[in-house]
Amino acid sequence: MSKLWGGRFTKQTDQLVEEYTASILFDKELAEEDIQGSLAHVTMLGKCGILPAEDVEKIKDGLLKVQGIIRRGEMEFSVSNEDIHMNIEKALLDEIGPVGGKLHTGRSRNDQVATDMHLYLRKRVVEFVGFLQKLQEALLTQAANNLDTIVPGYTHLQRAQPILFAHHLMAYVSMFQRDIERLQDSYKRINVLPLGAGALAGTTFPIDRHFVAEQLGFDRPYENSLDAVSDRDFILEFLSNASMIMMHLSRFCEELVLWSSTEFTFVELDDAFCTGSSIMPQKKNPDVAELVRGKTGRVYGNLMGLLTVLKSLPLAYNKDMQEDKEGMFDTVKTLQGALQLFAPMVATMKVNKERMRQAVNQDFSNATDIADYLVNKGLPFRQAHEVIGKTVLYCIQNGKYLLDLSLEEFRQFSELFGDDIYAVLQPEQVVNARNVYGGTNAGQVQGAIDRAHGELEKT
Ligand code: ARG
Repeated sequence: MSKLWGGRFTKQTDQLVEEYTASILFDKELAEEDIQGSLAHVTMLGKCGILPAEDVEKIKDGLLKVQGIIRRGEMEFSVSNEDIHMNIEKALLDEIGPVGGKLHTGRSRNDQVATDMHLYLRKRVVEFVGFLQKLQEALLTQAANNLDTIVPGYTHLQRAQPILFAHHLMAYVSMFQRDIERLQDSYKRINVLPLGAGALAGTTFPIDRHFVAEQLGFDRPYENSLDAVSDRDFILEFLSNASMIMMHLSRFCEELVLWSSTEFTFVELDDAFCTGSSIMPQKKNPDVAELVRGKTGRVYGNLMGLLTVLKSLPLAYNKDMQEDKEGMFDTVKTLQGALQLFAPMVATMKVNKERMRQAVNQDFSNATDIADYLVNKGLPFRQAHEVIGKTVLYCIQNGKYLLDLSLEEFRQFSELFGDDIYAVLQPEQVVNARNVYGGTNAGQVQGAIDRAHGELEKT
């Protein structure tokens, strides 16, 4: 088959080279964006008097026909046409004849492919913000239902201080809020138009880049034509934001896996989100959570991969940059899969409130509060810490928890202890005493839930 760029060549391309250099097998994903960009480009060529109106109409009709063929799944993409841009141009020529060859006036594949990627990621960013908000809603519902559920809070995975389960869930709402804000912020760098940069230096035709930008809904054209065709920062930024989202999901997954183990039994994931074992009949495995945790690796890998591709690339376009696509598509697919499953998995999760409460009864997570109690009675905190350390050691040696101690036992460690110590030690009291902005007191957590709802309603 003859090449669109065949004029300068005297030989056919080697078959293996053709396969090696082609990107059509993966960049066909950009078909819709490629046609969208071409429609805007050819409209501009007409408006600027570069092409006559009748040619513009023929090309537009032809592009819409090709779009129909692709949408119906009838397009035969071919490796010998290398990539999506030339496959579509070839199909256009087949539809409308040589006039189709006027479409590429004042344009290069270099500014074309960059435009396609901007259009593609722009959609994905909006989609991912939507997914994250769905997840926040699921978390907010669970949080509202668990404003009275007390659970051990951990540091070093050792019981530290009791908290509301709602408070724990709201930490994730905050993380996903930052993810949303990062995506939204990246939009302003994605929403810039490369088209019109030509191969690297601009074009001799009197094009109107601002008109194309406006038609495609971009905020503005790129300032510098070399930068326009060389920039892949916006993809890296997306891969980095995706990595951070996966990292957050993965931390959550780790907790879900732990919490649903028999050792914790804090939550039970719905049957629909678990799978069984082919040999052990009793098993119900949190596979979704494990896989999301596992797939975080490939998302990080895609980021590192592209960072490494771009390192040391001279300006402007280099074929290396074709390597920007597979990792990006893979990250998009991986993130879509994870986020789609996560919201319903969280929404259907059963919370074992009794078991969480029981866990709090059998630990020393109220120890800080007795130290604070002694501080309130006038003892310097450092001394109070020492006293309670000794008290806890005594408990451990005698198989007791702090609430099991008699007042006499308490008073062996400090004369300052009085009857009022028992109220201070109740987990409800311990939780509610942390009545600071951002703390685990029920009123504070309710405030956080209200504010998060407010953020959601803004969009
Ligand atoms: N398939 C190419 C890519 O993805 C399109 C740009 C090709 N430009 C070129 N001059 N070879 O990067």
